[in-house]
Amino acid sequence: MSTAGLPLPSPARQPLVGHLGRWGREPLALLDEGARLGRVFELRLWRRAVVGYGPDWNRLVLGDLDTFRSKGSLSALSPYLNGGVVMTDHPDHAPRRRELNPHFHAGSVATMRDRLEAVVAREAPTRRFDSLEWALHVVPPMLNEAFFGGRFPQSLLTTFVAPLHHPLPWPLLPRPTTFRQVDAAIARVLADPAEGSLAHALTGVDRAGEELRVALAAAFDTTAHTLAWALWHLAGTPNDGTAEEIRAVIQETLRLYPAGWLGSRVASRAFSFAGHAVPPRTLVFYSPYLTHRDPELWPDPERFDPTRFQERKPPWGYIPFSAGERTCLGMHLANLILEVALTPFAAGRAKADGGDPTPRTGLTLSPRGPLWIEVVERRPRHA
Ligand code: HEM
Repeated sequence: MSTAGLPLPSPARQPLVGHLGRWGREPLALLDEGARLGRVFELRLWRRAVVGYGPDWNRLVLGDLDTFRSKGSLSALSPYLNGGVVMTDHPDHAPRRRELNPHFHAGSVATMRDRLEAVVAREAPTRRFDSLEWALHVVPPMLNEAFFGGRFPQSLLTTFVAPLHHPLPWPLLPRPTTFRQVDAAIARVLADPAEGSLAHALTGVDRAGEELRVALAAAFDTTAHTLAWALWHLAGTPNDGTAEEIRAVIQETLRLYPAGWLGSRVASRAFSFAGHAVPPRTLVFYSPYLTHRDPELWPDPERFDPTRFQERKPPWGYIPFSAGERTCLGMHLANLILEVALTPFAAGRAKADGGDPTPRTGLTLSPRGPLWIEVVERRPRHA
């Protein structure tokens, strides 16, 4: 597809449909095959696309919001993500983030810890359970607490986010009635927001309701899927339950199973990379999944090993929350939710008991599941 320069390598394609069939059936295998051809390769999907991975590609694509735009990207295909800051491009993106960022900083969200702990204590299972099912169950009320101080109708919130966990095309289908109800419910909360909630923090911000709706959608399946894997691995790894150990399990989970496995942009102008010239309007992908499984960056990449985070992370080589100006707005909230939800199960209080952690693709990566956990009773015995 290059107009000049070196031709891009490309996995074997079928006549007429190109890579579209395999993209639908086994996108991770297709990406792995492309990655073996080079750090940048071409796919023929419904349109031509260029996929790259590794620090140089990530820095190029994520460091230049003028060339690499979100409008027209895959996120725009889902009504859940087609709005707010997610779809705000250069030059409006930077001022928008400056307005939103302070409310999502680590220090701001840390004030929510006690209330999130109370949700987990209320919802904690007491017998053998599937961590995927529990994660999908506990994350919505935690988000209700963080976003709305618990004042949003819980059943509407659950109905709104549920399709995000389902295979494609469910997260892409329009749901005008639910979206109208959600917008109306957010407007009611914004009229009388609970102190300490994101709704309270965003009161007065232009289009606060839309930002809250889009962020809620961006928060749900990403956090729930990560929690499911992290809990199962934590319960399968001997640990003393220190905050550092729990954080390392979260980091390693996000390396091996980055929920945002593939990000997309549209090139607003021609660019070149490693001698390959790419024309304007090309669909461009960056891949945390491929980057995190690159053996040059991550020795023995398929192995779950939280101790690898004792070493320095390769710059632009660890991007579960993306990188650059579009780094996930909810990164600190996600880490807080994960830490709070994992802590009661650390230090031997839960044991992994079989299951299938194989990643399955959808809008986000999720475990095929189930992921069984045995709750270990550690109450002191009475004479
Ligand atoms: C473990 C959980 C999470 C993961 C793995 C994750 C991952 C990501 C990734 C990879 C991106 C970049 C997408 C792109 O390049 O197109 C992103 C963006 C974003 N995330 Fe998250 N996310 C998580 C949780 C959350 C939470 C809890 C929120 C809610 C506050 C949130 C809100 C957003 C928003 C609003 C953006 C768009 C930022 C922008 O374009 O400026 N995410 N996230």
